[in-house]
Amino acid sequence: MSLLPFQNPFRPGAGHPPPYLAGREDEKAEFAKLLTQNPVMTNMVLTGLRGVGKTVLLETFKPIAVEAGWLWAGTDLSESTSVSEENIAIRILADLSPLVSGVVVQEVEKRRLGFHAEVEKVQVRLDFDLLKRVYDSTPGLSADKLKAVLELVWSCLTATNCKGIVLAYDEAQNLSDQADRNQYPLSLLLDVFQSIQKKGLPILLVLTGLPTLFPKLVEARTFAERMFHVVTLGRLNEEECRQAITIPVKSKNCPVTITEPAIMAITKSSGGYPYFVQFLCREIYDSYLQQKASGVLDPVVTVAQVVRKLDTDFFAGRWNRVTDRQRELLILVAMLSNCDDEFSVSEIVAKSKESTIKSFSSSHVNQMLAALSDNGLVYKNRYGKYAFAVPLLGAFIRRQQASLS
Ligand SMILES: Nc1ncnc2c1ncn2[C@@H]1O[C@H](COP(=O)(O)OP(=O)(O)OP(=O)(O)O)[C@@H](O)[C@H]1O
Ligand SMILES: [Mg+2]
Repeated sequence: MSLLPFQNPFRPGAGHPPPYLAGREDEKAEFAKLLTQNPVMTNMVLTGLRGVGKTVLLETFKPIAVEAGWLWAGTDLSESTSVSEENIAIRILADLSPLVSGVVVQEVEKRRLGFHAEVEKVQVRLDFDLLKRVYDSTPGLSADKLKAVLELVWSCLTATNCKGIVLAYDEAQNLSDQADRNQYPLSLLLDVFQSIQKKGLPILLVLTGLPTLFPKLVEARTFAERMFHVVTLGRLNEEECRQAITIPVKSKNCPVTITEPAIMAITKSSGGYPYFVQFLCREIYDSYLQQKASGVLDPVVTVAQVVRKLDTDFFAGRWNRVTDRQRELLILVAMLSNCDDEFSVSEIVAKSKESTIKSFSSSHVNQMLAALSDNGLVYKNRYGKYAFAVPLLGAFIRRQQASLS
């Protein structure tokens, strides 16, 4: 039997589970606490910048829920930008139906015609078709129909040991009300959950998404502010970063060791952002082995070399999609000492006056920030200030500028 060689364990990618999920214990505990509610009054919004680990953390919530006796359903709403009320309702039906499709609601006798009339017993199950029939035949608006289905589903589960259902939706910032089309899927979701939770149905909603998500919910329905507990994922601290880097290569079969200075440099260059930790570690690992394979006895891989690869693989694509004038605006933002937190239009205007870049008026800055937020590079927070939607974008821009001068 041949032993498989040790593979590069690091996994930079959207939703790829890391070899070791560092930190996030508080967030898991907060989720576990929500499962002890009876009735459910608080739901969760799990938010944070791109690549901070929302999707993989949501995945780890599932076994916690199952362990606590809850059922789990949900999907990714990436494609839901122009979803209608009917679509979101059907989506929920489709997500719930596998949980209850085993439940037999009725047994009917069917006669088979033939020489000897035979009686066959047919079980009616709570599958998607039945849920959809209940939905269609309930009078009223989509919200009334969806409530009727949720009540039916729960009434069939009350006799079981099930404590409740978690409905988890990733990339939920894509859900939007569209007044021009007279479609309000986001409001529908909030109205339905508020109403069924008031009636005592233990169905917990967990929404994951970019920082635009919570302001969007509150804009749709002000009561969303009281309906959700917002958990914001941030960067890993130094110790958590160290664990994310070192634990995956601890095995004695692992051909690569990550030295202390490299750990410090990865921690610093990644800013503690999980995607960057995975990216830098994966590249360092591969490049060490490649050098070794080409005969270098004692390979040296510096984090600076790998950061250059990060710039071309991760940042450059985003940078190339913006216009020259937008770039100038982003350069000004990167020059602000608070660019990694939030910044305001007036700060950018002031910076433009003291730089060599042709100055910007506030209305121009406003307009351009709106375009950049459509591009997914910045977002406007609840207080009307802006922030980079991509972590460490400021440092990338400064590196670009330094390489030009
Ligand atoms: N706690 C963690 N420890 C180590 N690595 C992590 C951790 N959380 C996430 N990662 C890694 O970071 C990367 C990004 O994770 P994930 O896709 O979950 O982020 P996200 O916040 O959902 O991003 P997006 O906003 O683009 O959907 C993945 O490669 C994942 O393996
Ligand atoms: Mg994600």
